Amino acid sequence: MSADNLSQLKQDAEAAIAGASDLAALDDVRVAYLGKSGSISAQMKKVGGLPPEERKTFGAEVNALRNAVTEVLEARKLLLEKEALAQKLASEALDMSLPARPEVQGSIHPISHVIEEIEVIFAEMGFMAVAGPDVESDWNNFEALNFPANHPAREMQDTFFMEAADDEGKPYVLRTHTSSVQIRHMTEHGAPSRIICHGRTYRCDSDQTHSPMFHQVEGLVIEKRVHMGHLKWTLQSFLNRFFEQDDIPIRFRPSFFPFVEPGAEVDIGCTKGQGTLKIGAGDDWLEILGCGMVHPNVLKSCGIDPKEYQGFAFGIGIERLAMLKYGVSDLRTFFEGDVRWLEHYGFAPLGEAA
Ligand code: PHE
Repeated sequence: MSADNLSQLKQDAEAAIAGASDLAALDDVRVAYLGKSGSISAQMKKVGGLPPEERKTFGAEVNALRNAVTEVLEARKLLLEKEALAQKLASEALDMSLPARPEVQGSIHPISHVIEEIEVIFAEMGFMAVAGPDVESDWNNFEALNFPANHPAREMQDTFFMEAADDEGKPYVLRTHTSSVQIRHMTEHGAPSRIICHGRTYRCDSDQTHSPMFHQVEGLVIEKRVHMGHLKWTLQSFLNRFFEQDDIPIRFRPSFFPFVEPGAEVDIGCTKGQGTLKIGAGDDWLEILGCGMVHPNVLKSCGIDPKEYQGFAFGIGIERLAMLKYGVSDLRTFFEGDVRWLEHYGFAPLGEAA
């Protein structure tokens, strides 16, 4: 094929590319010219069979043709992709300013409702609400919380590891607890401190009482003189307010969390009947939270002198609180997005009666 013919081929290809009105048509053009049996590929195949003196010039010409056509094709592809996206966005546009239709008015999810109740109770006790990200560094989720490197406690939490890693090559994680926010807050603001933080947490686990994504609220108090008595009073006051009873029985059981010493789990008194559970009095106990005095190593990791300051922390599962207060029996139903479930368990917006 002569140079003239090659330039004709180029013109044809360019015309076909310009004429392709969508991505599928453009791909057909690509296959017709550059695909395995495409007409430009056919010219490439000829190069090998030519006498050496022609091979060089013809080879260079076909190569240039292929590059030029590829370039035009890529440019058209970008343009068509942009157009397709713009079209998709336009077709999915929602007018957020339209008034609500009363028959489809939504309700407030019990998790959101419980979070609000918790924030109000702790705000009255002088706790500030802070937040942190769901994707955390190994340092914030484990290391600074006194989890030794390679310690099985890291796996104990059924961690979801990310592919991306930090500067030290340690993979980021989906935070397994909101305790990571303690670290962020203390590192940034030092002591004293009195905060709560709520948010999504993640563990690779799923059954009637476990969901791979769930919510926790974490509390942290750092002061010069603060002890377990303050912790106990804080939790007792919170639980009384939350469950709307005068004196919810609570008991502390020694327990291990690397970031507290001593550490405890707290149970509340209840009565378990057939398929029923009454919070308040009775012979049974139900575990509802973890807590303890912040470990000196944790304070040190955040640049706080443990000889000067000490503190307590607690972590509560929000679903658990919501299940107990509002009688939800299966944790998974919180996240199924079933409208009938929400109509039953949801709360009316704007404080109207449900
Ligand atoms: N972070 C702990 C957990 O998720 C709970 C906890 C928080 C325990 C604070 C003690 C102190 O299991």
